[in-house]
Amino acid sequence: MHPQPVQRRLEPELLDSLPPDHPDALLSRRDLRVINRVMGNARWFRSVLASRVRPGERVLELGSGAGELAAYLRPVSPLFDGIDRVPRPTTWPADARWHQADINVFTGWNDYPVVIGNLILHHFDDTALRALGNVISPHARLLVFSETTRQRFNQRFWNVVAPLCGANRVTQHDGSVSIAAGFCGEELPHLLGLDPSVWRWHITSTWLGAYRLIAERRA
Ligand SMILES: C[S@@+](CC[C@H](N)C(=O)[O-])C[C@H]1O[C@@H](n2cnc3c(N)ncnc32)[C@H](O)[C@@H]1O
Repeated sequence: MHPQPVQRRLEPELLDSLPPDHPDALLSRRDLRVINRVMGNARWFRSVLASRVRPGERVLELGSGAGELAAYLRPVSPLFDGIDRVPRPTTWPADARWHQADINVFTGWNDYPVVIGNLILHHFDDTALRALGNVISPHARLLVFSETTRQRFNQRFWNVVAPLCGANRVTQHDGSVSIAAGFCGEELPHLLGLDPSVWRWHITSTWLGAYRLIAERRA
């Protein structure tokens, strides 16, 4: 018998309320880099984009943060833009677009056949996810997201391992909040409102707690 899924629960993340140059924000971004490396997130995005993005397709990364994932992915997807509330990173290339905006009110989706994001969609409640799916899906051909798997085991694992590994207090808090707001099973495409007659998708979960969705518009 499968265990009952834990209810999705959203709470504010501390990183979202800190100025980008606050010492705790800098430490938490450092931790995020480590987490992304350990979970293999950047490598996974790179292999997916290398095999599925078509020449000339523009990619938009939701929640680009400090721009590190973008820098790693540009060699395989050169037309790569980002959106985040935080200011344009100093390392962001001059010929790439940076939308400093709230994703919930962004209107430039029609430029983007490919929309990706790492550890961003769990920030959105069910209503906001549906609204996001509604505005993205008419223009997009490919969606690629890596999130957290919402599972009791992952929550316990994180609560033990994060302090042992010296994660900053913001990371410890936000990691736990992110798992509680994560996804399981077929949830994410349904929350985005993707129509299975228009989209086909593939979901995987890793033992380290990543929840990964690749959705492609049917030909
Ligand atoms: C957990 S961080 C992940 C950053 C980066 N994707 C990574 O993996 O290192 C989430 C990012 O999403 C941004 N963010 C969260 N909600 C947002 C919103 N509604 N609109 C724009 N950016 C948002 C935050 O500013 C932050 O940079």
